[in-house]
Amino acid sequence: MAEPPLAAGAPAPPGPEPLCRSQDLVERGRAWVWSVLQYGQPVRAFALRFDGRVHAYLNRCAHVPTEMDWQPGEFLDSDRRWILCSIHGATYDPASGRCVGGPCGRGRLTPIATEERDGAVLWQPTRDIRPAAAGSAA
Ligand code: FES
Repeated sequence: MAEPPLAAGAPAPPGPEPLCRSQDLVERGRAWVWSVLQYGQPVRAFALRFDGRVHAYLNRCAHVPTEMDWQPGEFLDSDRRWILCSIHGATYDPASGRCVGGPCGRGRLTPIATEERDGAVLWQPTRDIRPAAAGSAA
């Protein structure tokens, strides 16, 4: 598919970044956690496999902007059905990041686009969410 033309002076969009091997993400298992920069500030992100697909989000609750995992990489509830914030119990749909219960209200997690290619998981930086190494001088 052809890329749309860039506006004059616009920086080139960053390409997909390698994240992990596909086999590192088992169905409803431990998430892969990594560091990104959002608006130049360091933030953790996570990717997990749910119903066969990889879903990734910033590790930042919609209730209070804090990290949510119970243990490093452990985001799912005991039934392995919902993402459950360890702080006050906000519950999110792993497939959409939408709040489905608890104090997150109408909020949702910030998604990060991913793809799988040749046994590898890649994530797609955006203008606002970039690889940590690219902006480490900030
Ligand atoms: S910080 Fe996540 S539910 Fe309050």
